[in-house]
Amino acid sequence: MSVTHELTVALGARSYPIRIGDGLLGETARHLAEVGLTRPPVVVSDKSVAATAHFREMADSLEQAGLAPRVLVVPPGEASKSFGQLERLCEEAVAGGIDRKTPVIGFGGGVVGDLAGVAAAVLLRGLPFVQVPTTLLAQVDSAVGGKTGINLKGGKNLVGSFHQPRLVLADVGTLATLPPRELRAGYAEVVKYGLLGDADFFAWLEANGPGLLTGDPEARAEAVLRSCRHKAGIVAEDEHETTGLRALLNLGHTFGHALEALEGYSGRLLHGEAVACGMVLAFRLSVRLGLCPESDLERMRSHLDRAGLPVSMRRIRNEGYAPDTVLDAMMRDKKVEDGRLGLILVRGIGRAFVTKDVAPADVRAMLVEDEALTPAAG
Ligand code: GLY
Repeated sequence: MSVTHELTVALGARSYPIRIGDGLLGETARHLAEVGLTRPPVVVSDKSVAATAHFREMADSLEQAGLAPRVLVVPPGEASKSFGQLERLCEEAVAGGIDRKTPVIGFGGGVVGDLAGVAAAVLLRGLPFVQVPTTLLAQVDSAVGGKTGINLKGGKNLVGSFHQPRLVLADVGTLATLPPRELRAGYAEVVKYGLLGDADFFAWLEANGPGLLTGDPEARAEAVLRSCRHKAGIVAEDEHETTGLRALLNLGHTFGHALEALEGYSGRLLHGEAVACGMVLAFRLSVRLGLCPESDLERMRSHLDRAGLPVSMRRIRNEGYAPDTVLDAMMRDKKVEDGRLGLILVRGIGRAFVTKDVAPADVRAMLVEDEALTPAAG
């Protein structure tokens, strides 16, 4: 089956294609060859994903081309982004025989992509890397842009590097078997692109989001395309997050990471769910500071709500959070510099900007307001 969309992440000699379509996995070997990768790859995946028909389709394509992959599997979940798993992967990859042209493929969601990316970045001081994202979140965000990372006790993604892939192969067919909750969580990152810089895309999502969530493959491919186009443009301009442009992709994330930390990075709160709530809090803070019309807050909040995402802290934890606890967790974010919070705020839908000028007292007052607005259920 043919590629439906192709984009380029324009980084000079390190430019690479993002191919988006339905049924791409059956032609994995051809896609690799087209970017000059013709050696048997090391494939990193997780135990659940490696058992799927999608994985088999990719492996069959490689085997038929005489490129039988070495498959390295980690347990599903955030805990696999660890030095322990990284060491094991590297030892096993080396024991199986690799050289500087051996591609490393990350086949799965964000955890697998981030971990495989670190392995590719450090093995033999850098191997060619390919991202094959199989979740909506990975297809629209984590697989694009070269951020790799593992976690420390002190926080998420504190060890890693920028290591751009040579190819991103986003087969939207894999989304058909994604649990609905994971699809919704990934959808939050799609909405993020509309909210941060593309009001027309947000309006398109208001019309097409419900179809996308219930299974319309064309709407899915279009949403992945538009999200990747947005991200590719940002990465091309600010690859290493130095000008502030790439930081816009963190809309909702400082709040979201704090909530994830307070939930112990457990399955109780998925990253995309935390981001959805965090984006509402960022809009609420922007309204409070007189920067953003309240109608835009209501519009984005109701869209995320209709998509089944948590739009207030009490929708995550019924008994709520102590605002100071949330604020403390935010102050531990790696984007705090000189004791000042780095936040992404908005002047409206599609108009985000970076600031370090928000007083913690304003954040606290907004958190109190959010807690007060949604009474505990029952
Ligand atoms: N996920 C945010 C970034 O890639 O910069």
